[in-house]
Amino acid sequence: KVESVDSLLKSSGREGEEVRVQGWIRTRRDSKAGLSFLAVHDGSCFDPIQVVAENRLHNYQSEVQRLTTGCAVDIIGTVKPSEGKGQSIELLASEVKVVGWVEDPDTYPMSPKRHTMEHLREHAHLRVRTNVSGAVARVRNCIAQAIHRFYHENGFLYVHTPILTASDCEGAGEMFRVSTLDMENLPRTDKGAIDYSKDFFGEESYLTVSGQLNVESYCLAMSKVYTFGPTFRAENSNTTRHLAEFWMVEPEVAFADLADVADLSEQMLKYVFKAVLEERADDMAFFAQRIDKEAISRLENIVDNDFARINYSEAIEILEKCKEKFEFPVSWGIDLASEHERYLAEKHFKKPVIVMNYPKDIKAFYMRMNDDGKTVAAMDVLAPGIGEIIGGAQREERLEKLDERMDEMEVPKEHLDWYRDLRRYGTVPHAGFGLGFDRIVSYVTGMGNIRDVIPFPRTPKNIAF
Ligand code: 4AD
Ligand code: MG
Repeated sequence: KVESVDSLLKSSGREGEEVRVQGWIRTRRDSKAGLSFLAVHDGSCFDPIQVVAENRLHNYQSEVQRLTTGCAVDIIGTVKPSEGKGQSIELLASEVKVVGWVEDPDTYPMSPKRHTMEHLREHAHLRVRTNVSGAVARVRNCIAQAIHRFYHENGFLYVHTPILTASDCEGAGEMFRVSTLDMENLPRTDKGAIDYSKDFFGEESYLTVSGQLNVESYCLAMSKVYTFGPTFRAENSNTTRHLAEFWMVEPEVAFADLADVADLSEQMLKYVFKAVLEERADDMAFFAQRIDKEAISRLENIVDNDFARINYSEAIEILEKCKEKFEFPVSWGIDLASEHERYLAEKHFKKPVIVMNYPKDIKAFYMRMNDDGKTVAAMDVLAPGIGEIIGGAQREERLEKLDERMDEMEVPKEHLDWYRDLRRYGTVPHAGFGLGFDRIVSYVTGMGNIRDVIPFPRTPKNIAF
């Protein structure tokens, strides 16, 4: 039976037992005494297991001494207390079978030296073999599992919303068009232009920017729901926080208002951060040592303290009064730029802050109009070091008000009659938000660039892998 390196390193009282592990060589070191130390990893935890291979092995000279980083091995050995520092046990190998060699180790792109993030990005198909990308992969998985657990424990139903859609939820015109048209023989309008209205077997179709509109429909029957899937934005932005394809977690709660989902967002983030600290202490120690020395303390602070909460108008006052020199001038009505968001979270509050009730003119059509007629019940959760990680709102549940907003913003009603139906039949106040999943992974690990926390980033010029 094959054992994972993780379960082997975590267990105790195993001395003398024979075990089998399968994995890849991280490093090989030969000692003068006629033995080699192999560090073998299998992805199950940060640390590799140290394997001691002696020259009495039949293939010691012919194979063991030719092992290089990346070679795949299948090992049988006896568990022994380790004399080396940093590990409590090691394996004394009775058999080292080489399953896959690394051709031409000198040009192997994942050689054991330190690589730049750019180099790793250029080899996105191999980079998960490195310490850093392996640690990111485990933390990313831990966060995803914790999110599902959080919603499950709180009675939410997980809904699968569609990827192909006709509607632009955010109304920002950032949709990728999806076409089934014959490119050689494109249909034309009377004026000779390409007739895209025939895209999807006769309808316009796009990749979704958000699952929200569909998840609202489930909310208004199942009460507490969430969707968690890929979303797409065709924005040509080259920043460290934007992807063209990213994952979003979108809960939606019936009979709830903005304050309810602000609470929910805070509870969820604390639950997730706690899970990471408990379950991935090994990877987090690595991030704290090599990537961002505050990686652990930042999460601990968040778990232990309340988030700040302010209205948009107060946020503007703070920004107007502060001494900071901003690139974009501040006045009531502006959409907060990244520099403003970061100032609020990093310098003013020094912790996550939930900004609520934004001017209606900078927000989406579905947000609930406040009594002042100027602001809508929107919220953004801003975190130090990254800015917006969550965007949400109470939804406009009153049909007349929704229609007014749709007209005002020229949202095509014909595509959203089904959405308006939700207000015609048994409407209730409801609210929800979207968590940028990749942004949260970047926040937790301290990895500065969102491209380094998603396995195969999709950004302008990144489609090869
Ligand atoms: O603020 P956004 O656009 O909100 C919505 O899409 C709502 N329909 C969500 C809802 O209420 N159900 O996006 C939500 C979050 C942002 O706060 C951000 O963290 C992330 O999604 N996000 C991106 N992440 C990576 N790359 C991009 N291009 C992103 N755009 C938004
Ligand atoms: Mg937003």
